[in-house]
Amino acid sequence: MDSPTLTVRLLRLADAEQVAMLLNDAFADEFAAAGRPPMAVLRGVRQDAWALRAPFRRVIAPLTGDFAVFVASVDGQLAGTTTISGGPVPVISSVAVAPPYRRLGVARALLAQAERYAALHGRDIVTLDVLAHNVPAITLYEREGYHVAHPYTVLETVTAAAGMPAGWRLSRVRDRDAPAFGAVARLSLPAEALALVPSLRDRYLGGPPVWVERLMAGVATYRRVLQHDGSVRGYVSGRISRGQQQARITYPLLPPDAGVALPGTLGDAVRWLTAAGAACVRVDVSAQRPDQVGALEAAGWQVRWHFLQMRKVLRRGILVAGRGER
Ligand SMILES: CC(C)(COP(=O)(O)OP(=O)(O)OC[C@H]1O[C@@H](n2cnc3c(N)ncnc32)[C@H](O)[C@@H]1OP(=O)(O)O)[C@@H](O)C(=O)NCCC(=O)NCCS
Repeated sequence: MDSPTLTVRLLRLADAEQVAMLLNDAFADEFAAAGRPPMAVLRGVRQDAWALRAPFRRVIAPLTGDFAVFVASVDGQLAGTTTISGGPVPVISSVAVAPPYRRLGVARALLAQAERYAALHGRDIVTLDVLAHNVPAITLYEREGYHVAHPYTVLETVTAAAGMPAGWRLSRVRDRDAPAFGAVARLSLPAEALALVPSLRDRYLGGPPVWVERLMAGVATYRRVLQHDGSVRGYVSGRISRGQQQARITYPLLPPDAGVALPGTLGDAVRWLTAAGAACVRVDVSAQRPDQVGALEAAGWQVRWHFLQMRKVLRRGILVAGRGER
């Protein structure tokens, strides 16, 4: 019997329904937890397919960042998909293979194509997030040269009970708050996490203006600086995308000695994000900050998932291995 023919190419509009079905099957639990209905997933895939068409790409890329979605076919049948973001540390996400096509090397081929895309854009490192209990995926990634760089915990809440303790104040981030950022971030997060999320700074300082994000990318963004006795003690940002019910706060940048203000700070973020349309809010907290996990659990947040952030250093010569896709 002939061995199956495996091909990988960029997503097209005609693939959208099959890709959405594949994603809805593969990530049913996560989408349900995030309140992401199947129709929203389909809409997202269609938007990606439009954005990947050459004329749109040039217009949209400066606002949303460059990215690619690849699909794999086995003997002409759509079998798997993955997405990779642009940016200094590209993130590979949504790796999914339909059950009848598993263990044929489809995911391996998709990863290889995503890595070539990163290399073509001059990157030498890629990263991805995987649930800590997803043994098949972790085995795949380890076999393909990925290593765990930074574990983190996701907590969720639907209400914002906590208030701010006396003497602590949140305000909009201004240019004059910039000098404190590096020191506060280093005291708040392990170096591995900071290295893998270089865009964290842009969420507070720089990056597109909030109104541009809202208008063009449909994202509502909360950004605040935390102050005590006139000095900067922390930063927090969260966002909710159009069509999603769950908002996300990534790594609250509060050092341990500002911990007393963590529940109140996130309470303010939850109130803002709820008013912007979120039905539920998740926060990602470094596994090296058990103090933050404990404080949030005490304030009514619930631990939902444990994730591993994995990274791979791309070897030289990766571009020779295949044609790649810009
Ligand atoms: C994880 C997943 C993407 C793997 O896809 P796949 O196409 O079957 O993987 P491949 O055939 O390319 O496997 C490559 C290697 O990964 C490892 N691997 C893949 N699936 C595995 C499993 N179920 N158990 C153990 N190892 C596994 C093996 O080492 C395999 O090599 P081998 O078959 O020669 O032993 C697929 O099972 C899937 O879609 N799962 C649901 C969605 C998901 O969890 N995605 C990951 C999100 S982070």
